[in-house]
Amino acid sequence: MGTSGSWSWLAALLCLLSLGVEVLCNCTRNDLDIEGGEYTLSKNLLPGSLLIYQCHDGYYPYPALTRLCQPNGSWRPPPKRFLPQRCKRVECPDPNVLENGNVFPGQEKYYVGDVTSYDCYSGYTMRGSPSRVCLPNGKWNGSTPICSRDSGDACPDPGVPPGASRVGNMFGIDDRVKYSCNGNLFLIGSKERVCQENGQWTGKEPACYFKHTYDTPKEVSEEFGSAIKDTLTTSQSLNDTQEGRKIRISKNGTLNIYIAVDISESIKEEEFDEARNAVITLIRKISSFSVSPNYDIVFFSSEVYRVVNILDFLDGKIKLNSVIENLKNFKVGNKNTGTDLNLVFKAFEGQMGFIKERVGKERFKDHRHVLIFFTDGAYNMGGSPQPTVARIKNMVYMNQLGEAGSREEYLDIYVFAIGADIFDEDLQPLTTGTGGEHYFRMKKIVELQETFDKIIDESEVVGLCGLHRNYETTGDKTDKRRKYPWLVFVINQGIKRKTCIGSLVSPDFVLTAAHCFTFGDEAEHIKIDIEDGGKREKKVKKIILHENYNLTAKVNEGVDEFYDYDVALLRLEEPVRISDVARPICIPCTQETSDALNLVGESTCKQQEEVLLKNHRERLSFLTRREPLVAEKDVFAKLGENRDLCIKKALLAQGITTKDERVAVTDNFLCTGGLVEHRDHIACTGDSGGAVFKNHEQRTVQIGVVSWGTHQVCSSTDGLVESIDDSRDFHINLFRVIPFLNKYLGDDSQDYTPLKFLKN
Ligand SMILES: *[C@@H]1O[C@H](CO)[C@@H](O)[C@H](O)[C@H]1NC(C)=O
Ligand SMILES: *[C@@H]1O[C@H](CO)[C@@H](O)[C@H](O)[C@H]1NC(C)=O
Ligand SMILES: *[C@@H]1O[C@H](CO)[C@@H](O)[C@H](O)[C@H]1NC(C)=O
Ligand SMILES: *[C@@H]1O[C@H](CO)[C@@H](O)[C@H](O)[C@H]1NC(C)=O
Ligand SMILES: *[C@@H]1O[C@H](CO)[C@@H](O)[C@H](O)[C@H]1NC(C)=O
Ligand SMILES: *[C@@H]1O[C@H](CO)[C@@H](O)[C@H](O)[C@H]1NC(C)=O
Repeated sequence: MGTSGSWSWLAALLCLLSLGVEVLCNCTRNDLDIEGGEYTLSKNLLPGSLLIYQCHDGYYPYPALTRLCQPNGSWRPPPKRFLPQRCKRVECPDPNVLENGNVFPGQEKYYVGDVTSYDCYSGYTMRGSPSRVCLPNGKWNGSTPICSRDSGDACPDPGVPPGASRVGNMFGIDDRVKYSCNGNLFLIGSKERVCQENGQWTGKEPACYFKHTYDTPKEVSEEFGSAIKDTLTTSQSLNDTQEGRKIRISKNGTLNIYIAVDISESIKEEEFDEARNAVITLIRKISSFSVSPNYDIVFFSSEVYRVVNILDFLDGKIKLNSVIENLKNFKVGNKNTGTDLNLVFKAFEGQMGFIKERVGKERFKDHRHVLIFFTDGAYNMGGSPQPTVARIKNMVYMNQLGEAGSREEYLDIYVFAIGADIFDEDLQPLTTGTGGEHYFRMKKIVELQETFDKIIDESEVVGLCGLHRNYETTGDKTDKRRKYPWLVFVINQGIKRKTCIGSLVSPDFVLTAAHCFTFGDEAEHIKIDIEDGGKREKKVKKIILHENYNLTAKVNEGVDEFYDYDVALLRLEEPVRISDVARPICIPCTQETSDALNLVGESTCKQQEEVLLKNHRERLSFLTRREPLVAEKDVFAKLGENRDLCIKKALLAQGITTKDERVAVTDNFLCTGGLVEHRDHIACTGDSGGAVFKNHEQRTVQIGVVSWGTHQVCSSTDGLVESIDDSRDFHINLFRVIPFLNKYLGDDSQDYTPLKFLKN
């Protein structure tokens, strides 16, 4: 111990001596240990290495949160032997700031788990929480208790949040209150609030944070979620339950979203992946709305690496899919050290300038800009970005700030301050925008994905077809339903008992195969199994088979069972209640599907087909029953020059004696199965009627209906069976039966919600 101590002392001395010739020195582990916790080093003891202390939940590292190894081999801040590093209990800000009331118990300090209760002096009434608990993130739960009495003021008493002081006791119109935080707390949110004519205070109640106070993913998700949703929609667009019709009034103009992710040394490699995935999640969530923003996405340290260029959007050169591809493919090379926040702001300023030049001043007025930063702000080396932010504001506001028609809503700057040691003083002033918090303080990047996942809860979005959760968490039944909310089982208890799969194509209709029914089956014998929170089994009002479906039509031509037009619609007695577990799938040639595919302007059926079936081997899926609900079968549709060979196998099916496979397999069928290039799954009997589908981001589009196959390959109870060389499946291609779908689903003279089919 003594020897190692003197060695490191010697090493330090050597480093000092050689400073003039720029020899890099390693740091030492002396006095680094933390009592009750641990630490990680980003680059061992090499210069530039970042040390991060960690404590258990409810504790935080003290006195330092992080240390950086400097070129001369000393830590910044240096460890102090007389003030050893330890884990301290998380403290909550002092609640004894309540006016006109009492706080119990009165304490010097309040720690995690401490419970406080509040009551008001007589004559005063309480708003807020009468009891609060100090949480592990350093905040009190519930809301600030306020004791007030009716004074006839225009605005209600805005109260005093824990740890704060307020100046201003007049609550009339145009009166101001100012807040500051006591001791070593700092203020997040509105420093100043003004009483408005409508009886509300501007801004939001501020909060006092310690360095160890964080926002939970849930808090961030709610705050940021409501702000970004406001940007993406108007309130009406999500609510179509009342009239049964969809009202979509998206704000006109263009939305530009600029995203910057800090990858400097204070962000670890795994964290980079987390950040990247979180950004992808965010973009996917945004894409579930009917807006198609333009994106500029950069990663930065002391340099800016552009992954997606917004100018490519202006030129129509890039689609959402390639944005996500670019993100996935981006690799961090030999990144430079340091963080140059100002450089990123300048990069975005530059892009905005180009846009303005390109579209002209008039049209630029209709452009809204949302800047989103992920950084801890540490080790900034490019100077303050504030002058750049001022220039950006100037450009977007067009010098109209404060005047009538203020353009503040055209610019939002959000900062997600993430890390063990956040530079709040530098970062918080950079945020701007109306309506809610723009500064979020999070401990770990891992929490981001969860945050963005929760931003847009699929259950809230009523009108969007095919919207689903594209990942699984628990793998249980409900989880599966969230992934395939359009899935239904069709139970036929009529002449031949049979179970098929079907798909919900509107709140009132299920699409399935015609061969699931036998001549003479009555609607009352059919049940639809779907969970929408109501009764699980739904009654059917009407069975509608395709008018051209005729199983025996080609008996004389050598086809015992002819499955052309094997589609049926089932009209439900009651519409299904739409939620995250019960929602229609998108079907071809509807306006909704064009929206889901991000086709802008007046789109055509052909365009949709080109997007969905563009390759001559196109990956599609369908479902099979398997505990806990279903499993997904993975197949390739053979199109173009691959189709002929695929359908030829139809001649191997039992009951087919014709020599021409085209007699049995008309152009209305898609063909899957076989082993060439990919071993497809093969359909089993119970899979009939199910959707053959394709996902496009967070939306699912149905392409076909599972109809018939050449071989009975399935025997086991497990439906996830692979194809043999000769087995093929044939599915009705929905693009070929649009008149039928349109006739019933698009009928706007009925008492159900019609789908809007494209004219061409
Ligand atoms: C610093 O440590 C690295 C390995 O951790 C070692 O290779 C290098 O020689 C050390 N440098 C000095 C100046 O001690
Ligand atoms: C190491 O360098 C930093 C500045 O880079 C300086 O503040 C510190 O005093 C130096 N430490 C020693 C031991 O020379
Ligand atoms: C605060 O948390 C405690 C314990 O979890 C709970 O009993 C109480 O209802 C919460 N109060 C509020 C206002 O949320
Ligand atoms: C939609 O609007 C109706 C009344 O207009 C309301 O009752 C319902 O809660 C709203 N739904 C959503 C999801 O906002
Ligand atoms: C956007 O809407 C506003 C008001 O509704 C209108 O004045 C403006 O011309 C519209 N801009 C475009 C590009 O349609
Ligand atoms: C089905 O086709 C056969 C042979 O063409 C024909 O005789 C029969 O009438 C058709 N059935 C229906 C219901 O159209």
